[in-house]
Order: sequence, then structure tokens, then C-alpha cells
Amino acid sequence: MSGTTIGIIGGTGSMGRWFERFFAGAGHNVLISGRKTKISFRDIAGKCDVVVLSVPLDAAISLSREIGPLLSEDQLLMDLCSLKENIMESMISYTSAQVVGTHPLFGPFTNAIKGQNILICPGRGTGMLKWLEEMLRAEEAVVTRMDPVTHDRNMAVVQGLTHFLTICMGRTLQKMNMTPDKAIFYSTPVFRINIDLIGRLFSQDTELYADLIGKNRHVKEALKTFMAAMEEGKESLLSGMDRDKIACLENIRGFLGDFCRHGLNESNKIINDLYDK
Ligand SMILES: NC(=O)c1ccc[n+]([C@@H]2O[C@H](COP(=O)([O-])OP(=O)(O)OC[C@H]3O[C@@H](n4cnc5c(N)ncnc54)[C@H](OP(=O)(O)O)[C@@H]3O)[C@@H](O)[C@H]2O)c1
Repeated sequence: MSGTTIGIIGGTGSMGRWFERFFAGAGHNVLISGRKTKISFRDIAGKCDVVVLSVPLDAAISLSREIGPLLSEDQLLMDLCSLKENIMESMISYTSAQVVGTHPLFGPFTNAIKGQNILICPGRGTGMLKWLEEMLRAEEAVVTRMDPVTHDRNMAVVQGLTHFLTICMGRTLQKMNMTPDKAIFYSTPVFRINIDLIGRLFSQDTELYADLIGKNRHVKEALKTFMAAMEEGKESLLSGMDRDKIACLENIRGFLGDFCRHGLNESNKIINDLYDK
């Protein structure tokens, strides 16, 4: 189904622009709209086979209510939101069109889709779902189906907790007055990557990160588990008893198993690349 007309609402934003290039490269006609473009989201609904919502979560939910009733069963309504429970419910409730939830697990700085993870939440219909998955796989994306609740629960750790820790590490550096420009001279490679990740988060849209943490109802649970792990770690690693420290670390190593070797090799590549100017 090349030559499909795809309309991206929020096509003026960073992910919208990325997917405009991607869809055009795959041979499709692409229209984009933003709040100030001549083409409106209603034009997109009227002219396109596929309507993509690439706007912040709350805007996507309210747009799905406005646009959903304008679409027919032959069209596909899909979104790129980073959380899935609420937007899927809204898209399915407000339209008779086919519905697919999509979460690209990469950002707009990614060069190519090859090897990148994309999660798919099937909503309604199979025809356009198959078309979308085949197109993504043809470009060598790693496509995995997931239901919205499992998706959001996983993202509570993958995004919510991970970004929460990065933010708290930034706050710790601030409280201890360890400025990155000085810390870079006494950094190990691992610490250097950590401060890079702090810089990376704060150089981007803080509202997006606040949403990933604050709008995912599963983050509280993930944080509770993390705080319990902190307490356990504090007890064993600061106990002064060598036997306790080793037992605590060996226990976690046992859980991770063979992945440890893989993690070492992959992180070595990152570290070597960092210093290989
Ligand atoms: N950035 C990432 O790394 C990433 C990764 C995966 C998924 N996502 C998801 O992709 C979606 C878009 O994120 P983004 O990073 O591309 O954001 P962005 O760069 O801020 O772009 C947002 C787009 O939404 C439009 N918009 C903003 N508020 C709106 C509103 N109230 N009503 C209608 N349109 C509105 C903006 O249009 P104007 O031209 O009118 O301002 C712009 O085109 C989000 O749902 C996000 O969760 C992002």
C-alpha cells in the first residue's frame, strides 16, 4: 500500500517532523498540521487515509475526541504518545475508524529506524494494523505488540523511574555543588556518561519528562519498589560486614545471569566511542 496519504497532526513538532521524513522516504504522501499551519487538523481528517496524532498526551486525548467522529472505518487513527492507557481508550471510544497505538522508543535525534524498538497496541481492525507493522518491519524496526496496561507498567520503569533517577542525580549534584564543568576533570567514564545523561534530559522539553513521570499511574509503585531496594542496599552495603555486601551483590548478579557479559561488552563500545574522537 505505497502511495497512502498520511496526515500528521503535530507534524511541526520534533517527532512529527521525524515521521514526516520517514513516511515520505517509504513512498507515501504526507501532509502535516500544527496550530498555526494553513492545513488544519480537520483538513487532515478529510484528506488522509492515515491520521497520526503526534502531540502531547493531553492534546492527543482532546484531539481524538474532536477528530474521531470525522473518520470512517476505512481510515486509520494512530498516535505516537509515550503513554497508552488513556489515549487508547479515548481513540477507541470516539471513532469507528481503525485504531492503532504506537510508541516509538526513540527520540527525534535518531538517524534511522533500523534496530529501534516500536511498541504497538492494537486497537480496532486488522487491515491497517498489518499494513503499519509490515512497513515498519520493512525498514528493520523491531516491532512488538503490547496491551496498553502492560505498556504503561513497563514504561513506569523504562521511562518514569529512569528519568526520575536522572533528575534526582542532577539535584544531588546541585545540592553538593558539583558542577559538571569541574566534575568532568575527575570523572570516570561511567560517571561521565551519567552526567551526559543528566545534561541530555535538561536540554530537552522538561514538560515531556514531567508527563512521563507524573501522568503514568504506575510510577508510584515502581518508586516504592525502588525505595525499598535503596533501604536494602543501604543496610547491606553500608553495614560494615563484608559478607553482607558480597551476598547482596551476588544475589543481584544471579538474577541478571548471562546478561552481565553482554552489558559489559555493549557499554565498552559506548565508552570507547566516547573517547574515540
Ligand atoms: N520527543 C521524544 O523523544 C518522543 C519519543 C517518543 C514519543 N514521543 C511522543 O510524541 C508526541 C510528540 O512529542 P514531540 O517530542 O514531537 O513534541 P513537540 O516537539 O513539542 O511537538 C508537539 C507538536 O504538538 C503540537 N501541539 C502542542 N500542543 C498542542 C495542542 N494543545 N493542540 C494541538 N497541537 C499541539 C505542536 O504544534 P505547534 O506547531 O502548534 O506548536 C507540535 O507540532 C508526544 O505525545 C510524545 O509523548 C516523543
